Amino acid sequence: MHIRNSRKGAKIFGGMLGWQILWLSVLLVTAGSCEAIQSRPGLQKEPGEITKGPMLLRVYQNRAAVMWETNLQGAYRVNYGKGDELGKYIESKGEKVQYKISKFGQGDIEKTAFIHKVWLENLEPGAAYSYRVTGPGIESSVYKFRTVPSETDRVRFIICGDSRSQPDVHRKLVKLMMARKVDFVVHSGDLVASGDRYEQWGPQFFEPLSGLIETVPVYAIKGNHEGKSGNYEKLLIPPGETNNFGFDYGPVRYFCADNAIKGSEPNKILDIIISDIKNSKARWKFVSYHRPSINAGHHWSAWGYPEVLPRLAQAGVDFVITGHSHLYERFRPIAPPQEGGSYVTYITSGGGGVMTSSIKPCEYHAKATAIHHFCLFEINGNKLTMDTINIDGKIIDHLEITKSEGRLNKEYIEKAIPMEEIVRYQKANLHREY
Ligand SMILES: [Fe+2]
Repeated sequence: MHIRNSRKGAKIFGGMLGWQILWLSVLLVTAGSCEAIQSRPGLQKEPGEITKGPMLLRVYQNRAAVMWETNLQGAYRVNYGKGDELGKYIESKGEKVQYKISKFGQGDIEKTAFIHKVWLENLEPGAAYSYRVTGPGIESSVYKFRTVPSETDRVRFIICGDSRSQPDVHRKLVKLMMARKVDFVVHSGDLVASGDRYEQWGPQFFEPLSGLIETVPVYAIKGNHEGKSGNYEKLLIPPGETNNFGFDYGPVRYFCADNAIKGSEPNKILDIIISDIKNSKARWKFVSYHRPSINAGHHWSAWGYPEVLPRLAQAGVDFVITGHSHLYERFRPIAPPQEGGSYVTYITSGGGGVMTSSIKPCEYHAKATAIHHFCLFEINGNKLTMDTINIDGKIIDHLEITKSEGRLNKEYIEKAIPMEEIVRYQKANLHREY
């Protein structure tokens, strides 16, 4: 019985072995055929991948904008939810972009990509959220971010600029930024060397910023190097928004403006900035745009001259932080005009990666040096501190100021430059601007 059964078992096993050999042969032949088909030029199927991002373009109290780029067309989605949940989703088919890359010996190669930008809606203020991008052949990691709280006195953020052209330097600064655990980053422009060349956006902007942009919103302002092709807008302006945008975070109102095109009617842009700032009751008011309004080195920019300084003071702005000149300079506060207004601190922060220029400190500077750096702000109610951190992680400038009943501390404003004096200085140096 045992033997018979064994024989029967062997027969069955022998039968199975036959089928397995047959199947194996079929599989080998099929695999061989697939390999043969795939190796034929023109029939290779590219694997789907996320080629840029995901990046948090905006994070507000109730909504957040996410972008990413894929190499293939298809129906993609962002799954998201509060805490660790991923139960909600929004779909995207993406916007097709076509561009060329030049390869030595191969000439121009046509490339296609799909940019996806979606809003995650109906979020709760001050809450942690998770999200994941999925699509044909793609499943990203799960990333987390936190929405802006409805009430807080505290905020921590970074401002940097001019990160273009040297991705290794940019990457080194980004690693230092990641360790600071900030609520948001503002980039004052010149994100890539030539924004009209689509192929530069990956290696110069998205890749050095990876590890940061997935979880911290980076508000990127348009610089003159972003070009006129619309690539900046396609990649970085979420649906329904424009290049001029503002946001709140606790005690801060922050307005970002586009003054990238030289000579483009400054007063029109100033009207937009001032209308936004005047409507805000925030304790601290920040403005950023790319070309500086006061700058004593490199480009010697004086964007918006002669109205800009008195108009921003009358609107109640506290800080104006720009880029464009490849250096760091913090001016002593500028006193308001006779009509009244705020003491405004102007900073040029254009050392985010590009080769630095040179600067000779002058009497109006609190600090001036040509160095790779970023500015780290920490605000707790009426107290503001700023550390400017260089590429070695060292603090090269430190500022500490307080506000009481809307006025800055006496010790700080005693150092102020009279408005008329700085406007005369601007005028005397206008010929140097380029
Ligand atoms: Fe620039």
